[in-house]
Amino acid sequence: MELSEAIKIRRSIRSYLDKPLPRDTLEKIVDAGRFAPTARGVEPWEFVVVAEREKLKKIAGLAENGRFIADAAACIAVFASDTKYYLEDGCAATENILLAAAGLGVGSCWVAGDKKPYAGEIGVY
Ligand SMILES: Cc1cc2nc3c(=O)[nH]c(=O)nc-3n(C[C@H](O)[C@H](O)[C@H](O)COP(=O)(O)O)c2cc1C
Repeated sequence: MELSEAIKIRRSIRSYLDKPLPRDTLEKIVDAGRFAPTARGVEPWEFVVVAEREKLKKIAGLAENGRFIADAAACIAVFASDTKYYLEDGCAATENILLAAAGLGVGSCWVAGDKKPYAGEIGVY
């Protein structure tokens, strides 16, 4: 699919098919995050792919607007270390991830986020 088409068709998807995502599809999606631009080229991020049902449920339990994570095939947690532009960098990576998913026919939804009280706790899982 052309990038311009993926940009147009991307929507937030909050209900999912009960089937696993092939590993290579997940890798392509995470890779799209890695190729995002970063201020000063620091790449302050770490991407953690969670695909274990119990962990997905725990994350869903924390995210009051992301309960649907419990039913997703995977959740990609985007962490960024505390650099000057970590938020912009993390957002650029996240948007790349959403667009790559759309281009591969995978439904996804951005779930906030940096300002949430549970943000730190996500890392525990
Ligand atoms: C920074 C950010 C945080 C978001 N957080 C949530 C969220 O916690 N839960 C959710 O269901 N959608 C979340 N969304 C998705 C928006 O609700 C969605 O993008 C918006 O309603 C437009 O719909 P669309 O993505 O289908 O175009 C978030 C989007 C952004 C950009």
